[in-house]
Amino acid sequence: MPWVVRDVVHDLNKAVGRRWQGLDRLLPGRADLPEGCAAPLVAAGANGRPAGAGVCRHQFVPADTLNQTWGSASRFSLILRLREPDTSAALDELLGQWRDHLAGLPEAGPVDTAAMVTWPARDVSGVNALLRHGMQAMTVIAVRPAEHAAAAGPVRPVRPAGPASARDGAEDGAGLVIREAGLGDLDAVTEFEMGVIRYDAQFGAAIIRPATGALVRAETQAALAMRPAWAWLAERDGQPVGLVHVQPPERSGWIAGMTRPGVTVYLQTMFVRPGERGSGVGAALVRHVHGVLDGRGVQTTLLHYALMNPLSAPFWNRMGYRPLWTGWEVRPAASLR
Ligand SMILES: CC(C)(COP(=O)(O)OP(=O)(O)OC[C@H]1O[C@@H](n2cnc3c(N)ncnc32)[C@H](O)[C@@H]1OP(=O)(O)O)[C@@H](O)C(=O)NCCC(=O)NCCS
Repeated sequence: MPWVVRDVVHDLNKAVGRRWQGLDRLLPGRADLPEGCAAPLVAAGANGRPAGAGVCRHQFVPADTLNQTWGSASRFSLILRLREPDTSAALDELLGQWRDHLAGLPEAGPVDTAAMVTWPARDVSGVNALLRHGMQAMTVIAVRPAEHAAAAGPVRPVRPAGPASARDGAEDGAGLVIREAGLGDLDAVTEFEMGVIRYDAQFGAAIIRPATGALVRAETQAALAMRPAWAWLAERDGQPVGLVHVQPPERSGWIAGMTRPGVTVYLQTMFVRPGERGSGVGAALVRHVHGVLDGRGVQTTLLHYALMNPLSAPFWNRMGYRPLWTGWEVRPAASLR
């Protein structure tokens, strides 16, 4: 990019980083704009200083990756950096420029495409502009800072039991055993991983592909081979009833930049069998896992939930999570208004 633009972008990145910190301490402190498909879109501001910029990125997600289950096959993302406290005018202008850009791209027209914006959840000044352009809030990236939990007091201990301890687990008063998952649990864990995907598919957050089942099984097998374990099962009467699966810090790099620096993990799966829901299995499992994560030095846990999932937002909030980013989309991409 030409040096004048680079200077402007550098200045903007710094201003936006400061602004984000004022809005939400758990947003990243640096807000560097990545390279886009073309020069950044720029929104005019006062005194000739741009009020914001955005770069468009095109991602064609291969059919043989699990990533394609978690959204459209072709994704057009606008990465936005807006400096003013009220973002609405600049955001409106940039979304208009982006709409014109997408309208000229034949590959943005098919059904299996999306135009996407990931927006700081607490930056409420932009919501109306996003709605005006036809975007819908679909997903939330929620965050749990470990120190909040520490300040809230000790976690209720899960009572160790004889037979359960022998299997490296623990049993609570209601006969629930929580233990690490291993390769012998491949069938159950795969079933629960698929259970979340099927549940989230009802809200458009997941899209079941022909390869989804085989890819989930292969990925689960690799994950269950890891030691120490990062997946835990809740069992009742010897039968698995719930799963939490976390990506360790070294595999969470793809999303760690969305929050403050430090040891960050991504909680990829939370599932309780339908007949067991609403009786505290999920809460007991997550409390146990939080205890392990805190003990392993994890400072920040991130996860996604579908905004329209009626079970997840209240559940995660009670477990100490709150919204950090909101995922806005319009499908197909060229239908951005
Ligand atoms: C979200 C989920 C994991 C929570 O597990 P859970 O074992 O039901 O959780 P808990 O029982 O600990 O807590 C659920 C809360 O909902 C209430 N609830 C009541 N009836 C319920 C029902 N039929 N189903 C779910 N929750 C119910 C519970 O009482 C509890 O609230 P409370 O603590 O205020 O009493 C589980 O509902 C689930 O697997 N959902 C489908 C998959 C999913 O949404 N995964 C998360 C994706 S991000």
